[in-house]
Amino acid sequence: MSTSIPQQQEEGDELEKTWWKEAVVYQIYPRSFFDTNGDGLGDLNGIRAKLDYLQELGVDMIWLCPVYKSPNVDNGYDVSDYQAIMDEMGTMDDFDRLLEDIHSRGMKIMMDLVLNHTSDQHPWFLESKSSKDSPKRDWYVWRDHPTNWESIFGGPAWTYDPKTRQYYFHLFSKSQVDLNWENPELRRAIYDMILWWLDKGIDGFRVDAINHLKKEYTDMPNPEGLNYVPAWEKMTNVQGIQELLAELRRETFDRYDVVTVGEANSVRAHEISEWISEEEGKFNMIFHLEAHEEAWDEESAGVDVDDLRIVLDRWQRSAQGIAWNSLYLENHDRPRTVSTWGNDREHWRESATALGCMYFFMQGTPFIYQGQEIGMTNAPFDDINMYRDIETKNMYRYNRQKGVPHKDLMKTIKKISRDHARTPMQWNFGANAGFTGGTPWIPLNPNFNWLNVKAQQQDPQSVLSFYKKMLKLRKDHEALVYGSTHLTYLECPYVYAYTREYGEARYLIISHLDDDTCSWWNPVDGELLLSNYDSYVDGKLQPYEARVYLLN
Ligand code: GLC
Ligand code: CA
Repeated sequence: MSTSIPQQQEEGDELEKTWWKEAVVYQIYPRSFFDTNGDGLGDLNGIRAKLDYLQELGVDMIWLCPVYKSPNVDNGYDVSDYQAIMDEMGTMDDFDRLLEDIHSRGMKIMMDLVLNHTSDQHPWFLESKSSKDSPKRDWYVWRDHPTNWESIFGGPAWTYDPKTRQYYFHLFSKSQVDLNWENPELRRAIYDMILWWLDKGIDGFRVDAINHLKKEYTDMPNPEGLNYVPAWEKMTNVQGIQELLAELRRETFDRYDVVTVGEANSVRAHEISEWISEEEGKFNMIFHLEAHEEAWDEESAGVDVDDLRIVLDRWQRSAQGIAWNSLYLENHDRPRTVSTWGNDREHWRESATALGCMYFFMQGTPFIYQGQEIGMTNAPFDDINMYRDIETKNMYRYNRQKGVPHKDLMKTIKKISRDHARTPMQWNFGANAGFTGGTPWIPLNPNFNWLNVKAQQQDPQSVLSFYKKMLKLRKDHEALVYGSTHLTYLECPYVYAYTREYGEARYLIISHLDDDTCSWWNPVDGELLLSNYDSYVDGKLQPYEARVYLLN
């Protein structure tokens, strides 16, 4: 079969080589990573304490979810001071020490940047709401008459302020107040804040919810007479947003050698050019959610491999030669993929590794979300009180008000709650999996009694060992970084297979995303570089078997 694949690498089809294209990024949700002072919350010193672990895994860069001062209504995605560290995480001195430690190991760090909204406790908002004449009134969005929109976290998107008798706008919870990006003074204040962090020497930003900066504040049609109407198209990728983003880039990121990744749901592959192309993009990469939205939902038993192929291949092909992809399976907003896309029961280890192999070797910068590298699973929490996430809680509350039965809601929450990704990191067999000596802010997943870092460190067949091998392989083979990606079909319906081609070198990546065995083809002519099974048979794939070949 290796001979039937034409060479597709062409002259001039190559992007410039850059450090962030070669990097692998590890996302930390600091609250749940490692607690050093026994208050049950992970902290900055906890990250410092685990740098050895990250370096051994082989990651180059850390993405730190928000650690800015915050009342933590949405765990830091409600910032009350962009230039201070929240008490729970430590101090700015702790941050500086972390930055130094990371850099002295030759690693890098990117911060989360929440620009669409601030906390309602931010001094800017306190000032803005103090009176209609406040000089900062216009830094937020105030109206006499709200639109009929529903907030992304449920309930109305506008909240009435009795003191000044106007409504303020919030896309997310009412404690996350949208900034008015039409106001040039506000934009200037934001740019100065960003420059302050860049001057500190951080290496990049993941920019939160960035495709919502612009809105079109008019009512949605409401034929069903809903109380509040989802208004996605009026708050997402609205005409004119590219000009705002271009200014943001020009005034800040462009002046430094940093990497930026915009979180941009609903952006599609045909829009790559304006978002991330090397010519006119506003960010180096974006996180699109298309694969997650198209290939799986709460009703599906497993991932839809056809949809996955269609979506991911479209992004690979559309970016080829003009832009760079971000590659990710999990983050702090999604349930655990081994539970949703894979099989966390009888094929837990195999499916966790096969899913890893599927996404990791495409063209782009791979991101690993904490715990993914040990195959952490969804939590079995049956009681709504075990959940902490504001989105989950609001969803429960508003739907109960609408009359949806408790049982149905719990079924959904057990499948999709963001808290599944937020249970504490499972370090060892000890109390609270070694995460904290105190009472954890959210219950642990009880499976830490067998699923933890310690258990996997010595086991060459573990999920963790497989991830280490994947990282090493990508380091050792430049083709796996810069090569072009070409979808390949084997005669098995649930196989995701592709080649990477770079000059003369060609690699074949096979991930069988199914519980059954499947026989397919004539033997591969090549050297097997990686596999998640001890023994294998040519021409036959075992459940969730994954292989990487260097083709002859
Ligand atoms: C992004 C974050 C999510 C947060 C939301 C509001 O989607 O990833 O965690 O709740 O923005 O800031
Ligand atoms: Ca702590």
